[in-house]
Amino acid sequence: MADPQSTATGPAAPGTVPFRPGLEGVPATQSAICDIDGLRGCLSYRGYPLEDLAAHSSFLETTYLLIWGELPTPDQLRHFEHEVQMHRRVSFRVRDMMKCFPSGGHPMDALQSSAASLGLFYSRRAIDDPQYIYGAVVRLLAKIPTMVAAFQLIRKGQDPIQPRDDLAYSANFLYMLTEREPDPLAAHILDVCLILHAEHSLNASTFSARVTASTLTDPYAVVASAVGTLAGPLHGGANEDVLSMLEAIGTPDRAEAFLDEAIAQKRKVMGFGHREYKVKDPRAVILQGLAERLFDEFGADEMYDVARRLEEVAAVRLGPKGIYPNVDFYSGLVYRKLGIPRDLFTPLFAIARVAGWLAHWREQLGANRIYRPTQIYTGRSGRHWRPLHDRSAAAAT
Ligand code: SDX
Repeated sequence: MADPQSTATGPAAPGTVPFRPGLEGVPATQSAICDIDGLRGCLSYRGYPLEDLAAHSSFLETTYLLIWGELPTPDQLRHFEHEVQMHRRVSFRVRDMMKCFPSGGHPMDALQSSAASLGLFYSRRAIDDPQYIYGAVVRLLAKIPTMVAAFQLIRKGQDPIQPRDDLAYSANFLYMLTEREPDPLAAHILDVCLILHAEHSLNASTFSARVTASTLTDPYAVVASAVGTLAGPLHGGANEDVLSMLEAIGTPDRAEAFLDEAIAQKRKVMGFGHREYKVKDPRAVILQGLAERLFDEFGADEMYDVARRLEEVAAVRLGPKGIYPNVDFYSGLVYRKLGIPRDLFTPLFAIARVAGWLAHWREQLGANRIYRPTQIYTGRSGRHWRPLHDRSAAAAT
């Protein structure tokens, strides 16, 4: 029997395209949301270069741009920010449900469960109503950070705290997480990190979101589906593993030996490589700058020297294969300096990527056709059922 995980491209059945593992290089949608030039290392949202948005925009303004396609006017932004601020609270029922979660559970599992539970409270499905869409966008953007912060306090045995309406989006998240009003620079740098992680075309979790959206289910199920996909170590979970890797290396002078061993054992180096980028991820470039600003302001992190040395030696050994740092390589160092617990790095990624998932949800609804690709069957045919007494191991061949 052929190995169904075969990496060979299978023969194309009549009227279909050849099999591409992981749909590599296969356009699965048309989209106007985000453009990536993987050879030049360029990324833009709705035509605006990421560097511009990181330097001048806010996460909520960028979210509005991603979802509705245009930068908001002052009134539109004021209304959007106010609506998100007014919907930050979550029902006591959700909080009580989270108190039943095991405190040792991973925060991504807590987030996926609580995001899906929102569908129980907002069960009306009117996905052809722009007001319903606006309301769902506001609720998910507003409540996801509150639920991430709530689980953090609950798993420590504390009651979650209510959002502060006088704090902006990222500052309020840090406040709910730490119970302290954050340093303005820390809040600003987190807001930039959310912009950098907001959208990235048809990555695995966004593809999940579009497939789920194409069945016309509710947006809470769409986001829950995407959260589950993002949790995987090959996707959103890599930034946790990068820190563990840097700590295992320990000192810059041991980076080269670590890399040589990883390559010899054909182990993936976390935080490196990308399906689209064949140069350094432009987000890694910006995140590295943010890390250095934080270190200047709040003190150095010796793991940064390890990271830079690893990047140097990897440029020689992996660079020729187009393998360079991706968004996850420096993000963990930034989050650690911001005081974010390590297993909340990926939930933080999810908080940002809700913007992209919702933009793709709305775009999918605008020109929907349910996803149903085909397959190349590699199993056996023409077999006949046999009674139990007639099933020896040999006969099973
Ligand atoms: C994200 O898609 C997105 O846009 C995702 C994301 C987003 O914003 O949504 O950018 C976020 O997911 C970033 C990626 C985080 N994951 C990691 O850092 C995990 C480590 N990276 C790899 O697992 C890998 O690079 C992927 C999954 C990111 C991409 O893998 P591909 O495109 O499927 O590449 P591949 O596994 O087919 O590898 C091709 C070759 C192989 O070598 P050969 O067998 O051809 O000799 O490159 C090698 C791989 O061994 N390779 C690596 C490597 N990544 C690829 N070798 C060592 N270390 C790595 N990290």
